[in-house]
Amino acid sequence: MEAQQILPRFCPKSSLAPSVTIVKQSFSLMCPPLPSSSSYASVQSGAFRAISIARKEVCSSSWRRVCCSSSSGAEPKEGHEVRAQVTVRRKKLAVFVSGGGSNFKSIHEASKRGSLHGDVLVLVTNKSECGGAEYARNNGIPVILFPKAKDESNGLSPSDVVDTLRKFEVDFILLAGYLKLIPAELIRAYEKSILNIHPSLLPAFGGMGYYGMKVHKAVIASGARFSGPTIHFVDEHYDTGRILAQRVVPVLANDTAEELAARVLNEEHQLYVEVVEAVCEERVVWRKDGVPLIQTKENPNEFR
Ligand code: GRF
Repeated sequence: MEAQQILPRFCPKSSLAPSVTIVKQSFSLMCPPLPSSSSYASVQSGAFRAISIARKEVCSSSWRRVCCSSSSGAEPKEGHEVRAQVTVRRKKLAVFVSGGGSNFKSIHEASKRGSLHGDVLVLVTNKSECGGAEYARNNGIPVILFPKAKDESNGLSPSDVVDTLRKFEVDFILLAGYLKLIPAELIRAYEKSILNIHPSLLPAFGGMGYYGMKVHKAVIASGARFSGPTIHFVDEHYDTGRILAQRVVPVLANDTAEELAARVLNEEHQLYVEVVEAVCEERVVWRKDGVPLIQTKENPNEFR
């Protein structure tokens, strides 16, 4: 099936959103000596000289460049005030949902109010009538059906969906309650660019069969005193990709699964928006051992 046939409400407005410069707060740090191979950043601001401070010995990141600058023109020393400026392109996002879509909604609202440096261009679902798909249609976001359900005449194959996301120039895929396994083809096409949110502190209570209330019932039955959402990169298995962020909530003595789910979901909405903000601002760096870390907005040497 030609993908565009089921994209009747393509919204060109958001895809034309301009790149903007994110000016960060001042912070103190020590810039390491520049490696001879490092390229100087193109960003210049008034009297400030841009200097690359990519910390290659700590983290590897082929796609992030932080520019810091010093008013004197000399390389900054420890404790000296420097200013950091990052110019990043506004990111294009695809969200995948199977259900109510409250996480999708909170991400979309953050984008609309301007706290997110990115736009949701397309919604992918395996259930065309789910709440998330309805919200997308009501907000002019095109809806793609994937994978094709047995009783549906529409629906895309894995290669169709990759082609379609490429047409939208999607940078990142956000799974938000999408219950289907992501095929290897899509994972290869979007390496280190697919995130999922899971309602427990992974690696506990994750994997095949752990979804919805089943997760919260299992947490309560185990006697665990804490739970909370995990955001992780997606690999070819359920819930095993690298953990990027977590938030902890208490499990109370008389909690029902529904009460615990509501407490966790409340944290999910905040955490997913914060993580997507970081992703859009290119604040994710990869430690040598493959663990992804989020730099704080204030200081690229601090991680949350
Ligand atoms: C959330 O609890 C999320 O952690 C899990 O599925 C649920 C989706 O909720 N993966 P919603 O559709 O965003 O309301």
